[in-house]
Amino acid sequence: MQYDFTSILDRVGKDAIALEPEAAMRANPVPIREGFTPIPMWVADMNFATVPTVQEAIIRRAQHPAFGYFNTRKEYYDAIIRWQETRNGVTGLTAEHIGYENGVLGGVVSALNVFCSKGDKVLVHSPTYIGFTGSLTNNGYHIVHSPLKQDENGVWRMDYADMEEKLRKEKIHAAILCSPHNPCGRVWERWELERAMELYRKYAVYVVSDEIWSDLILGNHKHIPTQSVSEDARMRTVALYAPSKTFNLAGLVGSYHIIYNSWIRERVEKESSLCHYNDQNVLSMHALIGAYQPEGYQWLDELREVLTQHVDYACDFIRDHFPGVQVSKPEGTYMLFLDCTQWCADHGKTIDGLLAAGFEVGVLWQDGRPFHGPCAIRMNLALPQVLLEEAFQRLDRYVFHPQK
Ligand SMILES: Cc1ncc(COP(=O)(O)O)c(C=O)c1O
Repeated sequence: MQYDFTSILDRVGKDAIALEPEAAMRANPVPIREGFTPIPMWVADMNFATVPTVQEAIIRRAQHPAFGYFNTRKEYYDAIIRWQETRNGVTGLTAEHIGYENGVLGGVVSALNVFCSKGDKVLVHSPTYIGFTGSLTNNGYHIVHSPLKQDENGVWRMDYADMEEKLRKEKIHAAILCSPHNPCGRVWERWELERAMELYRKYAVYVVSDEIWSDLILGNHKHIPTQSVSEDARMRTVALYAPSKTFNLAGLVGSYHIIYNSWIRERVEKESSLCHYNDQNVLSMHALIGAYQPEGYQWLDELREVLTQHVDYACDFIRDHFPGVQVSKPEGTYMLFLDCTQWCADHGKTIDGLLAAGFEVGVLWQDGRPFHGPCAIRMNLALPQVLLEEAFQRLDRYVFHPQK
């Protein structure tokens, strides 16, 4: 490996919410027992250094002492076009289809503001990324959940019959697709997206495809952009991407939309402009250009290998040591979504008690209930292997088998 994904990155005092126990524990804070250092395994950022070309690009620009008004550089668009073509096989993408968004969630809301009337219903799969719940309800939309279902192999699948019934009965005309899916980790296969998009066509539903996780694909899985499955999908979908999840740049802010349909694009651009806050930061523009360099392609491939190993390690460990905890192996993202229903029932424990037992030994994992997992825990595996193993040893010894 050319890049370092094994050293422990000291983020203390470096603006990292990941290491703030009060933020991780939210409603039920418990003190961490003496002798246990916090291990960050919740909020979706990574405990790895980003690719050096990001810092180099920012520093190079910061050495020039003026930061006045600016226009987005051609290199920014070129870098995105090359990235999408090389990694996702996207063809026909030009600068006019790409638009800056501060955040993916802001882009989701701008698109919904185009597709919906006030108080409209929006179809969203559950389990559901907490940010969708927050931003949709905050903006007065009603979420109609279509639950994903695990098939005979434990793979989360869309329930097309349920989706169809809800679209028809509730007269829904906007849907969110989370691809890959957070928190279930599904990388949707082409036929799954085709079938969903066929339904959306049938019921005249416009689609917001959140593809923020699309670079973080594990093993041999392959990301299929929603817009690529048909000409109709290309024209009814707003797709959102960012270098933030991929390269650990959330604190720099900066995402982008791809919209081929010029009517939708112009309406989304209008919506995005209304707050007058949706403006690019010059350093964040250079960060994207730095990330989407050849070094970034190589760094990402190495990262995907590391994450694939971590997911294998964690899933094997859970299978071998935590009977009653159920997990469907993620195909993308670096998140695990643990169903602890059986374990809690077998041991007479509540999910609050289980979460607290982990917190007490410094494992900063995340309550899965706000993601619509009634007895679930979400775990972030993007941390050096020594910390990952330490976390699972602590869980084994002090949380799942305290009598050992
Ligand atoms: C599916 C999904 N969309 C959006 C976001 C947040 O994106 P942003 O910070 O750009 O709004 C996240 C962050 O975890 C996410 O998982």
